[in-house]
Amino acid sequence: MSSALTDLFPLPIVQAPMAGGVSVPQLAAAVSEAGGLGFLAAGYKTADGMYQEIKQLRGLTGRPFGVNLFMPQPEYADSAAVEVYAHQLAGEAAWYEIELGDPDSGRDDGYDAKLAVLLDNPVPVVSFHFGAPTSEVLESLRRAGTFTLVTATTPDEALAVQRAGADAVIVQGIEAGGHQGTHRDNPETDGTGIGLLSLVAQVRETVSLPIVAAGGIMRGSQIAAALAAGASAAQLGTAFLATPESGANALHKQALTNPLFVRTELTRAFSGRPARGLVNRFLREHGPYAPAAYPEVHHLTSPLRKKAAASGDAQGMALWAGQGHRMARELPAGQLVEVLAAELESAATALSALPKGGASR
Ligand SMILES: Cc1cc2nc3c(=O)[nH]c(=O)nc-3n(C[C@H](O)[C@H](O)[C@H](O)COP(=O)(O)O)c2cc1C
Repeated sequence: MSSALTDLFPLPIVQAPMAGGVSVPQLAAAVSEAGGLGFLAAGYKTADGMYQEIKQLRGLTGRPFGVNLFMPQPEYADSAAVEVYAHQLAGEAAWYEIELGDPDSGRDDGYDAKLAVLLDNPVPVVSFHFGAPTSEVLESLRRAGTFTLVTATTPDEALAVQRAGADAVIVQGIEAGGHQGTHRDNPETDGTGIGLLSLVAQVRETVSLPIVAAGGIMRGSQIAAALAAGASAAQLGTAFLATPESGANALHKQALTNPLFVRTELTRAFSGRPARGLVNRFLREHGPYAPAAYPEVHHLTSPLRKKAAASGDAQGMALWAGQGHRMARELPAGQLVEVLAAELESAATALSALPKGGASR
């Protein structure tokens, strides 16, 4: 690991921030206490909601942790397309007996207010999703003593992250659960996402920043592979979603290993931005025509998703999950960190035992 990252947490294991109530303080605390880096997700929260969670987490652990922010979205959503999608969802609204949400409920996720809180009350690590902040923002966080990370899904985005002045880059492969952190959503590039190992190697040859690898990692052996490809640490979401400490809905946790859900897909159906989830009825029916309109579609479908969850209907929920979901283990989060670390160590030992001239025939 790079010295700055190593100083922060001993194991190269980061628990991904997971918005929507998944990465609660109890989860982040358990991971940080076990020697990984726990993360809070500020996305969809108010600045005060984020601050309350930080205070709660500080009460649970004195170890370093991170807070993740969503970047504000530029105004390029096609309102006519959102209106058409609202008509296409009318049957769902009637079925769940709700009114669709107001698509114009805000597109900056309270970014400035959250930044102000994080500058007044600095935390050890802050990461950004959906784009790179300005150099000024990154510099002000650095002056406050905060280590900064920004997600990239292509080598070009990683270069933009380096130019902006972040301390490290989160390299997110196409296997990843939840939203792709693509800097600018563009339907023309749909289907061109890069697999994690290839992406880490490409980014390693493009930027000099430390890399945190994310996407489909469920075992310590995969962390070893990411480190061998040039990463300094790995960020795991779906693996931690299944732990008892995670705040994910019980149906969501069960669905990860339920044979009813055989695969994942990237979809705009729930939020208007590509995100990977288990294929269920809602995703199958509405994914094919959902517009590129984030966060309008997120606001629009919010009451539907809430009602589906309240009714125990997994077929109407956003079941975010990475491609490795079937390998999820229901271990307590601290124990999962220990198991991952042990698997990583034995994979590293096996690698070092390989004949130097290549694998034996
Ligand atoms: C339920 C869920 C919610 C997520 N929410 C966020 C988020 O709020 N911010 C963020 O940067 N990444 C978020 N992600 C993506 C993760 O940071 C990470 O890229 C992903 O979990 C890695 O893939 P994996 O799930 O296969 O481990 C989320 C992922 C999941 C599964």
